[in-house]
Amino acid sequence: MSLRGATICGVGSYLPETVLTNADWERMVDTTDEWIIRHTGINERRLAADDQASSDLAIKAAQRALDDAGISPEQIGLIMLTTVTPDYFFPATACLVQDAIGAKNAGAMDMSSGCTGFIYAMAAGANFVRSGDYDYVLLISAEVLTRIADWTDRSTCVLFGDGAGAAVMGPCGRDEGLLSFALSSHGEYGDLLILPGGGSRLRLTSELIAQGQDCLAMQGPEIFKLAVRGIPRIAHEALDKAGLRPADVSAVIMHQANRRILDAAADRLDIDPKKVINTVSKYGNTSAASVPMCLDDTYRKGQLSPGDIVLFVGFGAGFTLGAAVVRWTLPPFTSA
Ligand code: UT7
Repeated sequence: MSLRGATICGVGSYLPETVLTNADWERMVDTTDEWIIRHTGINERRLAADDQASSDLAIKAAQRALDDAGISPEQIGLIMLTTVTPDYFFPATACLVQDAIGAKNAGAMDMSSGCTGFIYAMAAGANFVRSGDYDYVLLISAEVLTRIADWTDRSTCVLFGDGAGAAVMGPCGRDEGLLSFALSSHGEYGDLLILPGGGSRLRLTSELIAQGQDCLAMQGPEIFKLAVRGIPRIAHEALDKAGLRPADVSAVIMHQANRRILDAAADRLDIDPKKVINTVSKYGNTSAASVPMCLDDTYRKGQLSPGDIVLFVGFGAGFTLGAAVVRWTLPPFTSA
């Protein structure tokens, strides 16, 4: 039994300035605003500038989270960054961020758990804090998904956006902060959402690039079914571990892939749909970044108060699932 808990004590996000609307996509591929909204609930998403990589977005989100937490970069003991679009295979994007923000006392590592990344990092980061190994762990999720999207494939390109979110985890009382989590992996479905080329399996050649093997490939309807079946199971597992019921939940911060998945999850979990936060309409699917971006959006609107039970849920490439239950500790956000 640990002597202390671990809580989110600062939140931040960063959105690239350029907005890509459904009307923009109508001009580029054979699609319509009406199809995109009906099938996904997405109205617009953000597009990183040509000279922005994931670390550039991550640095800004991290600085905002540190400001919000009121701690200095030197107080961070560990940086855990989740992304499927790192700047490079190596060095880790987390190390680039560590240098840029001046976190000179921190270790740094990247994690890859697809769109579930932030939940995985939150679970691991909390244990570093609970154990007393580190007082503050910086969690960052950053993605420039538009750079690995096939801009000619209408079934995927319209879904994705760019952005970053971050949170600082620090110590708290034992019965607050992260109360429980549940993680699972279903590698047998790995090929349903994959970036086939560029790794040690398939070295990219101009021929493979011409075939689009350097771009994300997704079997959307199959992932949709796995998500809708898996979300209630993983969420119930985490809630059961915390000794809580869906009725106790104040807000659900879920991976933002599709409005229909958010609605189906609310229905299957028997949670008021108003509690399931929707930011997919304005940011699209930003993979690992979507959960902390959604968290920051909700927090900065003053919608979270101490004592609220926040249910985090993620699903994505792997196929991975994750859920975490947090008794919120930060006061409602007010701009100074
Ligand atoms: O973040 C990681 C996890 N990823 C997800 O959670 C994604 C989960 N999947 C989904 O969100 C949905 O499956 C999609 C949004 C990807 C697709 O929606 P869908 O309702 O499952 O559509 P579909 O793929 O079954 O396609 C239906 C039709 C097809 O035409 P036919 O064969 O019925 O004539 C597609 O060719 O819609 C067509 N279509 C489009 N039409 C206009 C597919 N994309 C488009 C498009 N515009 N952008």
